Amino acid sequence: MEDFKTVSASQTIITELMIPSYSNFGGKIHGGIILSLMDKAAYACASKHAQAYCVTASIDTVDFIASVEVGELVSLFASVNYVGRTSLIVGIKAVAENVKTLSVKHTNTSYFTMVAMDENHKPIQVPGLILQSHEEKRRFYQALQRKELKKNFRKEEARIKLEFDEKEVIDILKKERCILIAEPKSD
Ligand SMILES: CC(C)(COP(=O)(O)OP(=O)(O)OC[C@H]1O[C@@H](n2cnc3c(N)ncnc32)[C@H](O)[C@@H]1OP(=O)(O)O)[C@@H](O)C(=O)NCCC(=O)NCCS
Repeated sequence: MEDFKTVSASQTIITELMIPSYSNFGGKIHGGIILSLMDKAAYACASKHAQAYCVTASIDTVDFIASVEVGELVSLFASVNYVGRTSLIVGIKAVAENVKTLSVKHTNTSYFTMVAMDENHKPIQVPGLILQSHEEKRRFYQALQRKELKKNFRKEEARIKLEFDEKEVIDILKKERCILIAEPKSD
């Protein structure tokens, strides 16, 4: 019989203290540190659900809504939003907490597509998902919709790459902050 698991069975929280070596020249925490923590949380959550080694296949847009300060506690809340056949989508919310004031700010949200692998590095089927709460059903359905959006985006992106014609776009480029120099003619 096919295996199904609840969302709560693999929900993961990772909390890490932001130490001075994580900061950039401006004194704020590097975006890459937050991304790396998000990837760890996605792996922990996905591999728990799949009971297998998982790789990151894709990461959706990550907007940095608020900066993170040294000394803050960053927590990553990860849960499986959607399962396909061998892939699953983990939604991750990052929040930063100031330990003195106990104020909490939302810093990022993103969606990681993870693929479960066997020992021979071949994708393997992941368990299905039992959707209990309204939130779980909403997240699953919205992940399905985002998958469709991404498919359309890829098609449009391929079209943009194929259809570039310098003469056609010259008027658009003239309105931008660039200087257009004619390329020397080659013999
Ligand atoms: C991700 C990877 C395993 C996919 O391999 P593949 O040969 O395309 O495998 P498949 O075509 O069978 O796809 C497997 C699943 O991944 C999904 N997938 C593949 N590429 C994807 C992408 N770019 N975005 C979202 N999903 C993707 C497919 O839709 C499929 O999902 P499903 O089984 O739920 O329908 C392969 O590209 C890979 O190993 N990439 C490198 C991963 C890596 O090194 N990550 C960083 C370190 S962990």
